[in-house]
Amino acid sequence: QASSIPADKVPDMGKRELMNLLLLGAISLPTGFMLVPYATFFAPPGLGGVGGGTVAKDAIGNDILADEWLKTHGPGDRTLTQGLKGDPTYLVVEKDRTLAAFGINAVCTHLGCVVPWNSPENKFICPCHGSQYNNQGKVVRGPAPLSLALAHANVEDGKVVFTPWTETDFRTGDAPWWA
Ligand code: FES
Repeated sequence: QASSIPADKVPDMGKRELMNLLLLGAISLPTGFMLVPYATFFAPPGLGGVGGGTVAKDAIGNDILADEWLKTHGPGDRTLTQGLKGDPTYLVVEKDRTLAAFGINAVCTHLGCVVPWNSPENKFICPCHGSQYNNQGKVVRGPAPLSLALAHANVEDGKVVFTPWTETDFRTGDAPWWA
């Protein structure tokens, strides 16, 4: 008697089918895309110095194509992307509508909050304890002790690729604290 419950009496049924579909999509889509970062990851160092490079990803996880990005991100834009080790990293559009050769790691050097870009103030301002960084991520107000970390941002085969920044910090003239 209790064996045939009409589907519409089982409130979870529709949801479950949707979840299954979503799961399928979630499993099958990334496997195709993952091949690209892998290829980049295993590219021999010396080919433009991309050893350890990471293709920048947008908010929904797609590779960022420089040309497409510049169509929708104007001069002065700073937008969060997924960078090295998955760190939230700002991609910077210069005034001349080109991509800056550096990305800015958004992790606050005080206690690790992600620092939002404040366009009217032309600064990064941390909501947690009020630290401020200039438009290149150089610390201008504490309690943050250090500037935001840098990464190189280059375009390879049309894609934005981040690589570790191990050289002098051009904003301070100091050795990079993060390297
Ligand atoms: Fe950013 Fe404290 S975590 S100011």
